[in-house]
Amino acid sequence: MTRTEEIARRRTFAIISHPDAGKTTLTEKFLLFGGAIQTAGAVKSNKIKKSATSDFMEIEKQRGISVSTSVMGFEYGGCRVNILDTPGHKDFAEDTYRTLTAVDSVILVVDAAKGVEEQTEKLMGVCRMRNTPVIIFINKMDREGQDPFDLLDELEKKLNIRVTPLTWPISKGATFKGVYNMYRGELNLFSPNKTGISDDVKAFADLADPALDQIIDRYADQLREEVELASAFPTYKREEYLAGEIAPVFFGSALNNFGVKELLNTFIEIAPAPRPRLSSTGEVKPEDAKLSGFVFKIHANLDPNHRDRIAFMRVCSGVFEKNTFYHHPRLGKKYRFSTPIMFQANERNNVETAYPGDVVGLYDTGNFKIGDSLTEGSNMFFKGIPAFSPELFRMVENNDPFRAKQFEKGLKQLTDEGVAQLFTQQPGNRKIIGTVGELQFDVIQFRLMQEYGAKVSFRSLAYLKACWIDSEDEAAVEEFFRYRKDHLAYDKDDRPVYLADSLWMLQRAIDENPKLRFQFSSEIMLHEETEQD
Ligand code: G4P
Repeated sequence: MTRTEEIARRRTFAIISHPDAGKTTLTEKFLLFGGAIQTAGAVKSNKIKKSATSDFMEIEKQRGISVSTSVMGFEYGGCRVNILDTPGHKDFAEDTYRTLTAVDSVILVVDAAKGVEEQTEKLMGVCRMRNTPVIIFINKMDREGQDPFDLLDELEKKLNIRVTPLTWPISKGATFKGVYNMYRGELNLFSPNKTGISDDVKAFADLADPALDQIIDRYADQLREEVELASAFPTYKREEYLAGEIAPVFFGSALNNFGVKELLNTFIEIAPAPRPRLSSTGEVKPEDAKLSGFVFKIHANLDPNHRDRIAFMRVCSGVFEKNTFYHHPRLGKKYRFSTPIMFQANERNNVETAYPGDVVGLYDTGNFKIGDSLTEGSNMFFKGIPAFSPELFRMVENNDPFRAKQFEKGLKQLTDEGVAQLFTQQPGNRKIIGTVGELQFDVIQFRLMQEYGAKVSFRSLAYLKACWIDSEDEAAVEEFFRYRKDHLAYDKDDRPVYLADSLWMLQRAIDENPKLRFQFSSEIMLHEETEQD
């Protein structure tokens, strides 16, 4: 197969959802169809149950499991499908946001009864920012859910995207009969089946055909009427889907394996192959001959005896080959990898080559941080790997002066890994950890002790929001902070950050300082802009 063909057949995506909507179940069913696993139940749920906020063993288990499920690759219908896993727990949302930079599209799972939930909105917000193509799967149709019209309305309003149903449900809950696939003109009848694959699909181009009444009886007229009404939704156009302007919607039940195959078949047909990515030297196309890729996730110290780290790199152009020297622009050094790995369902395999769209795991001894790129000589960096404004802040103190070095190192490595963000305040070199969830503080405290032997404590700080301050006028930045020294900190790249106590203060600061830009997310920056080859 040529390189162009290899690229064209790749589908790299993430399944995202509010916890409990059915992401794990759907992933598992995809793997079943892909032949990557043989039985349902083989993919462990990787969610930390909501109650277990301080259960360290759960955290460790989650880290262990999530390495093997970080990327699940399989072959299906001539395509190489790469599913990138995202953590379910909301405290790890930032990890999810970063993973979304490494995919070309997403499938969003929504619970038919609960509709749009908090995490659904946030995750979708990130996709909208990046114009990521989204397919929506409305799950749990076997349960009493909301009316499909109401659901679609809610999706449009709350997710700020136009939707176009490609299938339509025939009743719901206890009387759920199946779906009519308007896209293919097929009738797919439901029979509950948690382990096998139900495949009762009939071609049915014309709903007026009286045969429909025989098949679904009194639901036939209801279906005709609803499909007629549903024609008011915009017509599906692939270019609009690819531009992230419209989201095709499917209905089904992941648990019952229903509607999943249609979703997967349509997905591989319409979802984008690897897309170009923006870099400091312009657009990088998958077809470009030279290798480039970026690290979006790091797993460190899974085995404390070995200090091993795996950096997950998305290949963006060229071909990645093992034992070949590549350039690490941030460090200005060359590295080669003798045992790069790829993931097949829940196994790791050594690989010789990887193509754009693939994710390779690189064993690393501390040379990578999130956002790093690897090239064949160019000094470019990829754009758009976000760090989000944290909302919880604590000062972290080292309790054992003899372990100061380990404390500094641990803090640096854990924040390189993206567990939380680190800010420094002067005078006194105060270290402030900013996170999006409580759980990260437990993770940091636990891992600093476990992996670096550093005992730390936290002191709560009353800041509400961090935002990056930026301006063409450097004097204006200085002036702004002149009377706000207590609220000034620097991020790891030495950029000034304003820590606001309240939304009121933040708004006032924004209103009074028109020369400044207040940014609530920042690109992870590792470089001085734009050095050409
Ligand atoms: P998540 O990864 O998005 O957090 O969700 P997950 O797949 O773990 O599913 C959450 C719960 O919803 C699970 O039940 C799962 O069995 C159930 N579920 C998923 N799809 C469907 C569906 O189509 N219909 C129905 N009725 N239920 C569905 P649980 O009791 O929390 O876990 P488990 O003990 O069954 O694993």
